[in-house]
Amino acid sequence: MPSAGGPLAPVVVSIGGSVLLTGERDADYLGELAKLLARRGAAGPLVATTGGGPTARRYIEIGRALGLTDVELDEIGIDVTRLHARLLASRIGPPTPSHPPSTVREAVEAVHRSSPVILGGTEPGHTTDGVAALLAVRLRASRVVNATDVAGVYDRDPRGHPEARRLDRLSWTEFRTMVEAGASGTPGQTFVFDRLGADLLARARIPLHVVAGRDLRNLEAALAGVAFEGTRIEG
Ligand code: UTP
Repeated sequence: MPSAGGPLAPVVVSIGGSVLLTGERDADYLGELAKLLARRGAAGPLVATTGGGPTARRYIEIGRALGLTDVELDEIGIDVTRLHARLLASRIGPPTPSHPPSTVREAVEAVHRSSPVILGGTEPGHTTDGVAALLAVRLRASRVVNATDVAGVYDRDPRGHPEARRLDRLSWTEFRTMVEAGASGTPGQTFVFDRLGADLLARARIPLHVVAGRDLRNLEAALAGVAFEGTRIEG
């Protein structure tokens, strides 16, 4: 396996569910995203996780109203994330497995023979960002790219605060403080990156690059490891 940071070190991308389905030109976007992942996956080992977004939250809300347990709600969320993985993986076609791996271990085993590998969630208790971080640690990835519905990490929530300022660089200590303040850990939670993921990446000193997932040119630059617009968390 290539060493962490080497030219062929694997890259992991966590694609937020709110990027995948916005209600605007979703099929066009997914088609272009599939092409991009196929291209980058052919250039080197690439694993993508897909989030559940508003669709998962809708099912989780209904399940909560029905009195389901947190574990059951997480499992419903996982099913939705896997549906999104299935859409992308089927569009990409071979060698990408069309049935998303259901564990980190399976995905790690698959990526060196069938890059890119696309998967959703794995087990209750975290989000697909957590899965991306677990994969990155196991694969000794050079970085994790978080493709999200904002253009980076801001000093306050940019949705609702037009004066919010994007932060180009953050240390892991600074970022983890923000994650602690923003994460609730309940099913269907939303924050730019989850707590488990931030802890794992900080400990392994794997950089996290946060970019707007709908800007495919910029996303491709971040995946290729060249200059991009967004936030770099490292150090
Ligand atoms: P997401 O990864 O989509 O979380 O998983 P999110 O915070 O809503 O992120 P966005 O909006 O897509 O970017 C949806 C839900 O599925 C469950 C959790 O309840 C999570 O909130 N889930 C997902 C798990 O329990 N385990 C997983 O591995 C993945």
